[in-house]
Amino acid sequence: MEENFDLIVIGGGPGGYVCAIRAAQLGLKTACIESRGTLGGTCLNVGCIPSKSLLNSSELFAKAKNNFSSLGIETGEVKLNLKKMMLNKDKAVQILTKGVEFLLKKNKVSYIKGKGILFSQNDVVVYQNEKKTSFKSKNIVIATGSTPTSLPGIKIDEKNVISSTGALSLEKIPNDLVVIGGGYIGLEMASVWSRLGSKVTVIEYLDHILPGMDKEISREFHKILIKKGIKFKLDNKVTGLVNEKNKVIINFTNNKNKSKEKIECDKVLVAVGRKPYTDGLNLSKIGIKKDNTGRVEVNEKFQTSVKNIFAIGDVIKGPMLAHKAEEEGIAVAEIISGQAGHVNYDVIPGVIYTSPEVASVGKTEEQLKQSNTSYKIGKFPFMANSRAKVNNEVDGFVKILADAKTDKVLGVHIIGPHCGDMIAEMALAMEFGASSEDIARTCHAHPTHTEAIKEAALAVDKRPIHF
Ligand code: NAI
Repeated sequence: MEENFDLIVIGGGPGGYVCAIRAAQLGLKTACIESRGTLGGTCLNVGCIPSKSLLNSSELFAKAKNNFSSLGIETGEVKLNLKKMMLNKDKAVQILTKGVEFLLKKNKVSYIKGKGILFSQNDVVVYQNEKKTSFKSKNIVIATGSTPTSLPGIKIDEKNVISSTGALSLEKIPNDLVVIGGGYIGLEMASVWSRLGSKVTVIEYLDHILPGMDKEISREFHKILIKKGIKFKLDNKVTGLVNEKNKVIINFTNNKNKSKEKIECDKVLVAVGRKPYTDGLNLSKIGIKKDNTGRVEVNEKFQTSVKNIFAIGDVIKGPMLAHKAEEEGIAVAEIISGQAGHVNYDVIPGVIYTSPEVASVGKTEEQLKQSNTSYKIGKFPFMANSRAKVNNEVDGFVKILADAKTDKVLGVHIIGPHCGDMIAEMALAMEFGASSEDIARTCHAHPTHTEAIKEAALAVDKRPIHF
């Protein structure tokens, strides 16, 4: 007989597995279906986690090579063992994916391996190799994530023309790496391979990197990355490429003067975004609507056009971020259980784990201008922060945007050391509806990088102490 569940979650990424755990905590008989063979989705297997391992290792390598001697640390020749670096990354991924499997077990979530396909409103069929198993469920959550996109006429072969997945497991340092797209993935991977010795050129369609980010931060970041040796071709559109045996030739056109250029490299990373992954799920047969960009349409309760089938994470609208998917996973599990699950989309932090890091939460200055909101700005440079100074990490600044009348914090944008962790303080402050004065009056430990936040808050009222 078919096994019956209260909830089947299709997809075991950060959205799906977190949703399954929360549902089980709330007493729902829950299953999580995953086809990859390991849990954790893109994030754990071929995204956030392996990239952070390589970002960390490559940064340490670059520091050992370039900065240690100035600190009085003398080493022999610093050599790279790429194979070992990759093994360390793979080990971390393996431990973490196994950890998720343990968490599902601990919470009594049934982990079903295979590809889940919607058969009807309450029936899911799972295919694994030749085996087909059917399950019934009162509710279903689609959490199938996203896959890399490419450009028209450009085929990713994961050999010379790679996606982020290929960029995380190269066996050799490319001499010349071209990155198409100056977004999150492009800039993180450009940083890794440039630190390990590649000559890296980023071709970006827009006239600035990191679309959607506060422009002042994006400009500063661009300058810092140039100082680190990464070359940029901004305002250029890649129009095609020729993939030969040992080299790739990339053609691109300047958007302003229409001049055409070519660049030759041994590897090209295509990082022009990701698309929702719903292939083979049978959505149209069940009557689940998608929008014109392929995202599953949901209402404010994450219900699709079939009301007991929900969708979360990268398959629906909003930033394609693991932590956004996790919040949605928790909210939808609570909604299905009759509680008031909710996600505050105004307070979803974004972090780029480069060196320095870039982190932001809330509105950008451009968004405030566009909505005619009157605002005040407080800025503080890490150059004037004692901890950053002693650590020789002085690039960057904190920028706080507060409402001109109420002083409520509307957005915080940071480029600088450890700001990926520091942004949590600002997300919390914004969740509590803090004013910049609240932050300015909160005691911050000395000497820490977080004092730059307090000083930026003081600067909103033009009274910073150390600048
Ligand atoms: P993205 O949307 O961040 O950046 C893609 C870039 O490619 C854009 O700047 C776009 O203007 C450019 N582009 C598009 N067509 C082009 C063309 N023909 N020629 C040159 N440039 C072109 O996408 P990305 O970096 O692939 O990341 C995908 C998703 O993964 C994002 O939604 C991001 O949020 C997420 N992600 C998050 C990370 C994090 O939280 N640290 C790390 C990696 C990815």
